[in-house]
Amino acid sequence: MGRFGVTALGFFALVVASFTTRAAKLPSSFKRCHKSDPHFDDCLVVNIEDAIRKLKNGAPELALDSFEPLLISELVIGEGSGPVNVQQNFKNVRLHGLTGSKVLAEKASLDQNMLFAQSITPMLRLEADYNMKGRVLLLPIYGDGPCNVTLVNTKINHTLIGEPFERKGKTFLKWVNYTVTLRPEIVQFNFANLFNGDNRLGDEINRVLNENWDAVFGDVRAGYEKSFGIIFQDLANRVFTRVPTKDIFLD
Ligand SMILES: *[C@@H]1O[C@H](CO)[C@@H](O)[C@H](O)[C@H]1NC(C)=O
Ligand SMILES: *[C@@H]1O[C@H](CO)[C@@H](O)[C@H](O)[C@H]1NC(C)=O
Ligand SMILES: *[C@@H]1O[C@H](CO)[C@@H](O)[C@H](O)[C@H]1NC(C)=O
Repeated sequence: MGRFGVTALGFFALVVASFTTRAAKLPSSFKRCHKSDPHFDDCLVVNIEDAIRKLKNGAPELALDSFEPLLISELVIGEGSGPVNVQQNFKNVRLHGLTGSKVLAEKASLDQNMLFAQSITPMLRLEADYNMKGRVLLLPIYGDGPCNVTLVNTKINHTLIGEPFERKGKTFLKWVNYTVTLRPEIVQFNFANLFNGDNRLGDEINRVLNENWDAVFGDVRAGYEKSFGIIFQDLANRVFTRVPTKDIFLD
């Protein structure tokens, strides 16, 4: 199951799926860190980055498909409260670039079931079929067709809160709260077929969006953060709810 939808229903279906699956093992190529290591956090920085890179081709042991691109059936970014008065509906999303992420810092508080990580993704590109109808910067905007949104040098903070649970005598961790904050250096939008294919108006609107990317993205950033939080939470839980905690973090 490599595809998932970021709608309330899709998320629910996923959570159920990850709980009905059987226990699994981390692929042997994944390196592990010892909790007793005085440099445990530095060890995690290296090994998490390494694991993300290895997941580029998927991990059948964990029923994880390739992360490159990551396929998401549906993603909805709600209206902002400022210049973006339009709901962006994306379907057939291909998210490229996640496996190029670098982990910058990591802080684990395992006794409190918490993890904090900072990462940077040089090039994160969302390609999808979109449809939207509303207003941006007071200008009417509508259309449906292919699009891409590119986030350059995006710093991401990940705050994970987990709850341990037992299954067949083994302890696992489920991440119940995965909060993401995103700070891209620049965002580029490209929506094809705006205004039923009126290229002159469409080019103009794309130009306005890109010239004002900061205000436009800033207004809907919370929507992107929420969606990425759900995506990352699901990916992390596919590993953590299936591999016993003691086999991920060694004593
Ligand atoms: C991440 O957290 C650090 C430390 O709290 C903060 O300085 C930084 O601005 C945050 N970055 C993002 C992308 O939210
Ligand atoms: C997750 O944590 C954030 C930050 O602490 C909080 O604002 C949010 O309400 C929490 N969400 C859930 C579902 O517990
Ligand atoms: C981005 O979208 C535009 C408009 O659909 C298209 O012309 C361009 O080829 C796309 N770029 C990539 C890299 O997909």
